Amino acid sequence: MTTAPLLALRSVSKKFPAVQALDTVTVAVNGGQIHALLGQNGAGKSTAAQIAAGLDTPDEGHVEVAGSPVLFGGRADAIAHGVGYIPQADSLVDDLTLVETLALSQTHRVVRRRKLTARLRTTASQAGVPVALDTPARHLSRGERQLGELVIALAQGARVLLLDEPTSALGPREVETLFDHLRTVADSGVAVLLISHHLGDVRQVADTATVLAHGRVIHTGPVADIDDRTLARTIVGDEVRTPPPRTGREPGEDVLVLSGVSATCGDPVPVRDVSLRVRAGEVVAVVGVAGNGQRALAEVAACRIAPVTGTVSSGQRVAYVPEHRVDALLPERAAWWSAMVTRLREPAFSRRGGLDAVALVGAASALFDRHDVRPRNPDVAVTALSGGNQQKLLVGRELDNRPDVAILHGPTQGLDLVATRAILDEIRRAADAGTALLVISADLDEARQLADRLVVLSKGRIIADVPAGELDDTVLWRLTSGLPSAEVAPGRTAAGNAK
Ligand SMILES: Nc1ncnc2c1ncn2[C@@H]1O[C@H](COP(=O)(O)OP(=O)(O)OP(=O)(O)O)[C@@H](O)[C@H]1O
Ligand SMILES: [Mg+2]
Repeated sequence: MTTAPLLALRSVSKKFPAVQALDTVTVAVNGGQIHALLGQNGAGKSTAAQIAAGLDTPDEGHVEVAGSPVLFGGRADAIAHGVGYIPQADSLVDDLTLVETLALSQTHRVVRRRKLTARLRTTASQAGVPVALDTPARHLSRGERQLGELVIALAQGARVLLLDEPTSALGPREVETLFDHLRTVADSGVAVLLISHHLGDVRQVADTATVLAHGRVIHTGPVADIDDRTLARTIVGDEVRTPPPRTGREPGEDVLVLSGVSATCGDPVPVRDVSLRVRAGEVVAVVGVAGNGQRALAEVAACRIAPVTGTVSSGQRVAYVPEHRVDALLPERAAWWSAMVTRLREPAFSRRGGLDAVALVGAASALFDRHDVRPRNPDVAVTALSGGNQQKLLVGRELDNRPDVAILHGPTQGLDLVATRAILDEIRRAADAGTALLVISADLDEARQLADRLVVLSKGRIIADVPAGELDDTVLWRLTSGLPSAEVAPGRTAAGNAK
């Protein structure tokens, strides 16, 4: 006798005003398995997960839990059916601890804190996931937040876990930790649906893969039966081009200079005594385990926060893509507002003392075309764009203005292979046009491909600053894995900064 999958979508269709997001999609996730859900930006992955999580309802078809059709009345109902969900943008509230977040999801009027703490602690230890239960989420690193959400879902009694791009902002070591835990959880019989753009993730941890394209299932089967190349081609068609190599021009003058900067932005790790310069036409990539001061560095370099000590000197026009893209977008408004918000004061967009909406929408449309933001409709709300398309909109907007300096924190997070290439091309073009770029990336391969220089950040300090290509793989891996810098070959550390 075969057991029914713990979770299934059966012939699910979902239409939004502008697009058929899902078209008769069937996906079945078995207990004990990790099932990867893949596809380009806008393919329908998050929509499928949201329907399975009870956050949205199908127009046609239905959801099944352990073989029985269910009609979720909302998220709480899905939790009661054992469906855990970790959304694409993390759902923890900065000021709340994990225990408090769990308390929020309880339907009982009286919530016993001690009981919940005990439940979380037991769950965490059974799943072998070490998490700080009483620390406000703002003090947790990205990796710890992911694990925290995982433990909350399990403590809610999840038999099914839906994870929407949990790895997009994590470094290699943190991804490995997360996957170790996911494997343990799956081995205990839980069904895991894992959305990702990284084929490495699929190969590392998934048993089965389903690929969506334009809301339809175009492939499903065991991961062992498909090679990387075929899988990549299935996901993106033949659209991926190899990027042209960097021209290797001599960089110009110093444009962004940080001298002895210490700064904090409320994150657990401030930056301390950081000195760094980026020249015109140069791409400097900051690598290292997320949560080692990257956010404070980005914010202070982009002049969003003032340094506590030290100085920052920068160009006139500074572009900034923050780690949390919603911080730089107007999510509820029509997308053209977000596309144009940095240009509202330009004469071309004012009319009789007010704003010229027609001109603004026209310019936003052109931006959508240039940066391949889909759907090509600047009138839809930002929340109606898929995660990757929001990212394309933001990076496009920031690089369009020919900035002197661009600070890009995770510019390709959440992007599919095609969109990633497009953004990397844009970054190169901006460098060739003379912009000084500081790119903060969790993706080592990408950083190496893109950058002229690599800077390694650890515990808020720069522990290496070297031309890209000069670090061999092992050293770089160690440096960015949070291993002690003492293990690094001498001569590789940045003089003055290494402590
Ligand atoms: N609330 C909404 N209103 C209107 N359209 C929506 C809404 N949510 C999603 N869409 C559209 O549905 C399609 C599928 O979006 P979805 O977010 O599921 O894509 P995705 O595969 O998760 O993409 P990404 O990899 O970029 O996160 C997209 O065309 C998107 O613009
Ligand atoms: Mg998505």
